[in-house]
Amino acid sequence: MRRRHLLTLAAVGAVSAGCGPDDAPRSKGAPAAGPASGGSGGPRFPDGFAWGASTSAYQIEGAAAEDGRGPSVWDTFSHQPGRVRGGDTGDVAVDHYHRMYEDLDLMKDLGLKSYRFSISWSRVLPDGRGALNAKGLDFYHRLVDGLLARNITPVATLFHWDTPQALQDKGGWEQRDCAQWFADYAQQMFYSLGDKVSTWLTLNEPKTVVSLGYTTGTHAPGKRDRRVANVVGHHLLLGHGLAVRAFRGTNRKGQIGAALNLSPVYPADASAAAAEQATAVDGEENRRWLDPVLLGRYPADWLAAQPANAPVRKAIHDGDPAVIGERSDLLAVQYYNPIRVTAQGGRASPHVTTQATWQEVYPDGLYDLLTRLKRDYGDLPLTVTENGMPSPNDVQDDDRIAFLRDHIAAAQRAIAAGVRLQGFHVWSLLDNFEWAEGYSQQWGLIRVDRSTMDRRRKASAEWYRGVIARNGLPA
Ligand code: FCB
Repeated sequence: MRRRHLLTLAAVGAVSAGCGPDDAPRSKGAPAAGPASGGSGGPRFPDGFAWGASTSAYQIEGAAAEDGRGPSVWDTFSHQPGRVRGGDTGDVAVDHYHRMYEDLDLMKDLGLKSYRFSISWSRVLPDGRGALNAKGLDFYHRLVDGLLARNITPVATLFHWDTPQALQDKGGWEQRDCAQWFADYAQQMFYSLGDKVSTWLTLNEPKTVVSLGYTTGTHAPGKRDRRVANVVGHHLLLGHGLAVRAFRGTNRKGQIGAALNLSPVYPADASAAAAEQATAVDGEENRRWLDPVLLGRYPADWLAAQPANAPVRKAIHDGDPAVIGERSDLLAVQYYNPIRVTAQGGRASPHVTTQATWQEVYPDGLYDLLTRLKRDYGDLPLTVTENGMPSPNDVQDDDRIAFLRDHIAAAQRAIAAGVRLQGFHVWSLLDNFEWAEGYSQQWGLIRVDRSTMDRRRKASAEWYRGVIARNGLPA
């Protein structure tokens, strides 16, 4: 519940009518035009489709003070009383730092083609800048080597919310300098790991940092200042652009892009007022991130909605949008829920939710989102880097199987409609530290008993293994 209740705060004044919901036909089970079909089972995905799973450093690694790792804002935050459910922290998490080879074998056993993880900035640079921590970097070398040895493609995220505390002490993302600190760290990673990692993701969900980290204060660093939050949002995007530029500068081969959590926004009724409100919410939720990254400009209606004295106006310097819009090679899409906006600007929630009460289940939203991206932003390769749900069920997680089946079917329909979708990564490989919810929600394909750290494949893992082996859903 504490997780994402920003949405009502997020709506800004409506400016222009127009795009927003996708009215494209959503016929289920349409025959696949692109992917090959045949043999037993449903339509197949394209050859080489990157079936994967995702994790992030702070959520799984543990070893918080080992081998020279410096603290991040999440170490600080989770140790403050009342911040995380049950007082949970990521100190030990699911001990992936020590069980990495076991986890690699589990990935291999699932048949994963792709594994998306994040690098802990403060593990490789304990103070956020300067000399690399060889032991910390070595962990990622071993992880990447282990993936490659198992024919699993590494997809490395550079920032999954764990800003080094040393940089936070200097103002963190509120400071424009942080964008350059991030790009410098990114460049060090490109030079260090770039001969082995060929897919890089810059930021994970900058929207969540802005909304939960700086507006509601429910995530690290726990600030509540919407005006500052928007400045942070701009600096994050600037960091993305500078990191992409640094990547180009290294002449490393591979692809780079951002990982954005996006929600299709629909008017809750047929009124003009609801359509107008939906357009504004779409600006805040989607276009405010997509347009700078993919078009090199902020949406005019979003900018116009910022008050004249809003600090974000000053934070956006001439030339910044062009930096942010440095050409991406791909966009990583994270989809969890749709948004339905009423004529009054409130939210309608007609669908069932999961244990994460912010998460309404609406698989067609993934189809709408993917096809909208192609329609509005062109034919950029896309990969789904997060989709999944928490299940209260132990290992017999049939609810997760149904959820994934329906979302993968929606992805398949999007491919059939011509979307260049290259991969699908389930959130998450393992049960892990779910931020402010601590260990109270289980999002993994693999169950982790935190008293023993034993790993056990859930029914969804067995099911997903079949999907990967078949390169498609069961009939
Ligand atoms: C996403 C986060 C990921 C995880 C899932 C459930 O927003 O990127 O770390 O918490 O939600």
